[in-house]
Amino acid sequence: MVKAIIAPSMLSSDFANLASEAERMLNCGADWLHMDIMDGHFVPNLTLGAPIIESLRKHTKAYLDCHLMVTNPLDYVEPLGKAGASGFTFHVEASRDNWQELVQKIKSKGMKPGVSLKPGTPIEEVYPLLDGENSVELVLVMTVEPGFGGQKFMPEMMDKVRTLRKKYPSLDIEVDGGLGPSTIEAATSAGANCIVAGSSVFGAPDPAQVITLLRGSVEE
Ligand code: DX5
Ligand code: ZN
Repeated sequence: MVKAIIAPSMLSSDFANLASEAERMLNCGADWLHMDIMDGHFVPNLTLGAPIIESLRKHTKAYLDCHLMVTNPLDYVEPLGKAGASGFTFHVEASRDNWQELVQKIKSKGMKPGVSLKPGTPIEEVYPLLDGENSVELVLVMTVEPGFGGQKFMPEMMDKVRTLRKKYPSLDIEVDGGLGPSTIEAATSAGANCIVAGSSVFGAPDPAQVITLLRGSVEE
């Protein structure tokens, strides 16, 4: 029904060696590379943008799963499309007035559109984005407050995942924040199939082993 996708969050990598860190993760079995784009406004942290995606793209053919924690996602579509991003996941809280235009533009640039929601945002808010012509192809359920790696997984977010999975059996449902060997079961049994993991993968002595364990938990 759905495919297991393991996406290490490059936020936990050594940014000074991004290309080799990306290669290391792919050699460890990663499917996607999760790229956290923060603008210091939507969240209180600042990370990377299109120029770094463009640089990384020169070194890898991997699927670059961009998670936009920014106030004006529309401004990022064109530059990220040009830079070689593969997925463009914006926050519903930042696109209440223009999500249709946004999805249309993301698709026209050849990227996969996704929508994310913060822990405090009810799942019902993404329903309009899943029906009709300009629909998203992935929902990213945040399991921590966005902004930083290494936070504690919020199991109460699994109600959102369960509700979504019941309604959309073949949708890509991604979870992000605090995922690792001790929390993966809660996420996958609720129906998540795309797993973002930063500190649990990069902090492990054997990242390949963690990636294999995460993958094995996804119900395909
Ligand atoms: C947090 C980011 C995450 C973060 C996850 O705002 O969206 O992708 O890197 O890191 P861990 O897995 O350490 O919680
Ligand atoms: Zn993320």
